[in-house]
Amino acid sequence: MKIVLFGKNGQLGWEFERSLPVLGNVVSLDREELDLGDLQEVQRTLRELKPDLIVNASAYTDVDRAEQEPELAMKVNALAPGVMAEVSRTLGAVLIHFSTDYVFDGRANTPYTESDPTDPLNVYGKSKLIGEENIKQSGDAYLILRTSWVYSLRGNSFVNKVLGWARKNSTLRIVDDQVGCPTWARMLAEITSLLLAQHRGSLSDGFREQCGIYHVAGGGYTSRYEWAKQILANDPRPSEQTVQVIEPGRSEEFPTPAARPLFSALDCTRFEKTFGLRLPSWNSTLELAMAG
Ligand SMILES: NC(=O)c1ccc[n+]([C@@H]2O[C@H](COP(=O)([O-])OP(=O)(O)OC[C@H]3O[C@@H](n4cnc5c(N)ncnc54)[C@H](OP(=O)(O)O)[C@@H]3O)[C@@H](O)[C@H]2O)c1
Repeated sequence: MKIVLFGKNGQLGWEFERSLPVLGNVVSLDREELDLGDLQEVQRTLRELKPDLIVNASAYTDVDRAEQEPELAMKVNALAPGVMAEVSRTLGAVLIHFSTDYVFDGRANTPYTESDPTDPLNVYGKSKLIGEENIKQSGDAYLILRTSWVYSLRGNSFVNKVLGWARKNSTLRIVDDQVGCPTWARMLAEITSLLLAQHRGSLSDGFREQCGIYHVAGGGYTSRYEWAKQILANDPRPSEQTVQVIEPGRSEEFPTPAARPLFSALDCTRFEKTFGLRLPSWNSTLELAMAG
């Protein structure tokens, strides 16, 4: 099987570069090799490579900067996935794409299902939602996996930020009014790869039948404040911490250019039932991730 992976240097893409090779030959493309803002080039490259499977782990993910660069966010998050879906259909290939909990407005108080109405609050969420619609219009055998609060132990994730803040401050104030599902990038890449392995014999027929949107995230949900406390409890080097107190704060104390949904937990029952896979709880996954 020939696989094209977009976004290999991102949190999720980095993990896919390690989990996909058991399935076939992976051609991984980063921004230097292919800028997703160049839609013609996306089309040309995919037509030339003729993959059986496209995994799109790339996205314009800087939620605040997207407010200043809506056109670029729209190209990368909305138009490029549409082109991927179109070429994938003409090649008889499968497209795996990731979307976000930020397609919701966060006014719910129980986890969102796939049939709940969307109403994004910011440019990033709007661009990702249009990306979903473009894939639905042009695609054939595809899965759109909506996930939330993705972290890895590499780079500038919330986990590494909290560990850094806890080494420089005696008090941390973390919002407790934002609630979501922390999702370890490795768990997400591995469960997606497992799903692909299960359907290996009839990849495009299988996913044509089951195509659509699925919620996939760490099991359960929590606030950023509780998540931060768990991060510190699992710190592999607690003696380096200078922090004495962790206080709950409110989102309005930390104004940002982009509004964020307050409650964006995802109900992943549809994914678990359709594919017979269980998503581990966010806190057991965090423990595993931080054990190194
Ligand atoms: N992070 C979250 O909390 C979160 C939550 C919900 C959903 N998601 C979704 O999950 C998926 C994976 O997210 P992630 O956290 O792994 O993202 P990430 O770490 O920010 O990685 C995104 C990747 O996309 C690449 N990219 C951005 N613009 C590009 C362009 N113009 N051309 C080519 N490549 C480009 C980046 O390349 P560079 O390395 O060169 O910048 C990076 O490798 C995305 O679809 C995202 O929307 C993420």
